[in-house]
Amino acid sequence: MAMVCLTDFEEYAKEHLSKATWDYYAAGADECCTRDDNILAFKRIRLRPRILRDVSMSDTRTTVQGTEISFPVGIAPTAFHCLAWHEGEVATARGTEALNTCYITSTYSTCSVEEIVAAAPNGYRWFQLYVYRDRKLSEQIVHRVEGLGYKALVLTVDVPYTGKRRNDIRNQFKLPPHLKVKNFDGVFQEASVPEDYGIPANTLDPSISWKDVYWLQSITHLPIIIKGILTKEDAELAVEHGVQGIIVSNHGGRQLDGGPASIDALTEIVDTVQGRIEIYLDGGIRTGSDVLKALALGAKCVFIGRPAVWGLAYKGEEGVREVLQILNDEFRLSMALSGCRNVAEINRNLIQLSKL
Ligand code: FNR
Repeated sequence: MAMVCLTDFEEYAKEHLSKATWDYYAAGADECCTRDDNILAFKRIRLRPRILRDVSMSDTRTTVQGTEISFPVGIAPTAFHCLAWHEGEVATARGTEALNTCYITSTYSTCSVEEIVAAAPNGYRWFQLYVYRDRKLSEQIVHRVEGLGYKALVLTVDVPYTGKRRNDIRNQFKLPPHLKVKNFDGVFQEASVPEDYGIPANTLDPSISWKDVYWLQSITHLPIIIKGILTKEDAELAVEHGVQGIIVSNHGGRQLDGGPASIDALTEIVDTVQGRIEIYLDGGIRTGSDVLKALALGAKCVFIGRPAVWGLAYKGEEGVREVLQILNDEFRLSMALSGCRNVAEINRNLIQLSKL
């Protein structure tokens, strides 16, 4: 079958992954309202295309944190890639390196950060971090990824507790015994303690607060990007705390059900931040015109979670490359059809605001 759009990869993954693995990747919290709205909200937005602007040449390049990437789509951190493809994150890293864009490695990777860097030595990477009750654990991994050349830390702040994902509970989802959260191999000794997604339960610290951002700044020189902000109040606090970026995200609808679609939360954040730091978005990006809409509303770059995993499930590294290439091609076409020759020309005038 010709793979034409990202939903083709979704269908392939649904058909070929085990039910428990598919359910884990697809899961949203509770009734999945926020997960589903991430997608529907993009469909509600209409564009105002401009014409006769000589779009014979188009340039999709942009920068994030001062580094050039080939187009404004990167890979969001998602856990357990070895469930989708035997090479796991190593394949993701290679596929992303080939397209010259940004790969945010999840803390919960089934390959180690050392293996990932060795597999794609020229890749541009950020590392996603959780804050553990044992701060030393977080500190050790920060120093490890700094040493390996990761270029930023993405602090995920929307998981004080794991959201309630019904099918994972029904399936009693667990990492199979042959897979491990490799970055913490040997760290968690007590094999008999109850586990939460492959990590002993209660290792994440629900008391995490803004003062931990200062703590993180005290142990690293890397830029810090906060992932999981959905309001202008928290965006303002993020700027005041001196972080370098925000990812507007609801964790793919896997945490609080009933929160806004990411794209619906973007505008108030962009208006509050006023260009003081870069703003990115993830959640529900499935087509090139979704990318265009997010950029028009002020995102500097967007990230894909589930579609990268579908690409992996299809053909590993090659599948990730194909998913990114399709999004790149669709984005370039949407830009041209709306009269934009480069990303600097994408702005809010492209959006029918009266319909929002
Ligand atoms: C995630 N996400 C996530 N986020 C994070 O900060 N650390 C993580 O380990 C994970 N793991 C994870 C696993 C799976 C299976 C999914 C689907 C998501 C959230 C992820 O980074 C991102 O916010 C969403 O996936 C974006 O939504 P889409 O692109 O999947 O719609």
